Amino acid sequence: MKLIFLGPPGAGKGTLAARAVDILGVPHVSTGAIFRSAIADKSPLGLKVKAIIDAGKLVDDETTIALVKERFTQADVQKGYILDGFPRTVYQAEVLETFSAVEKVINFDIPDPDILERLGGRRVCRKCGHNFHIIFGKPSKEGICDHCGGEVYVRDDDSPQAIQKRLEVYRAQTLPLIGFYRQKGKILDVDARPAIDDVVDNFKRCLGI
Ligand code: AP5
Ligand code: MG
Repeated sequence: MKLIFLGPPGAGKGTLAARAVDILGVPHVSTGAIFRSAIADKSPLGLKVKAIIDAGKLVDDETTIALVKERFTQADVQKGYILDGFPRTVYQAEVLETFSAVEKVINFDIPDPDILERLGGRRVCRKCGHNFHIIFGKPSKEGICDHCGGEVYVRDDDSPQAIQKRLEVYRAQTLPLIGFYRQKGKILDVDARPAIDDVVDNFKRCLGI
């Protein structure tokens, strides 16, 4: 199945994707995670995008599209994928149509107060990227990932200023994608407010699986 996860920052896209890869047997392709790994490696891409991401702005379309096209040359995505964080502009969506046929777009429905609560308490494993939360899902040992033993940290773009900027950017540049895909009959709205197990159930129900 070829899916896009579309939703505001902190909606729970990455968290649901981590569960959905086992349910659907397709890889999770997160542009944000690819950028964060490039930043951690201090690669030329990472050095180019770090300040932009930390400020909560979007990386330019050309760089982002090149990254996704490169990822899509790999065999694992041919049978299906969960694209998380891409496309984020109408232009990115138009270009995506030229190289892959998306089947459905999962639209994460969640109000702003929940987003702020989720982002404000998020903790992430530096090594494997697993998401934790200081209230909704703490690591068993503070600061240490339950899955790989990596260091659990606060993302640099989870500062209050960057969160505000990311929400503004989402409304201005990414929200129009809901109309873009609704017109094509591809949107499936998922109530992303409940606890993760219930969100998983909502997701499966809307896919009819
Ligand atoms: P990206 O990494 O995609 O960030 P984002 O879209 O802002 O989304 P987040 O990862 O913040 O939120 P999420 O929805 O994944 O929520 P999560 O599951 O973590 O992008 C980062 C940056 O990279 C962008 O700002 C941009 O600069 C750049 N970039 C990326 N793609 C780009 C593109 N296409 N074009 C240009 N630039 C691009 O959950 C959040 C928290 O809530 C966690 O703590 C989690 O534990 C908790 N939680 C999740 N679900 C639940 C639940 N059901 N109940 C309670 N808590 C929950
Ligand atoms: Mg994410």
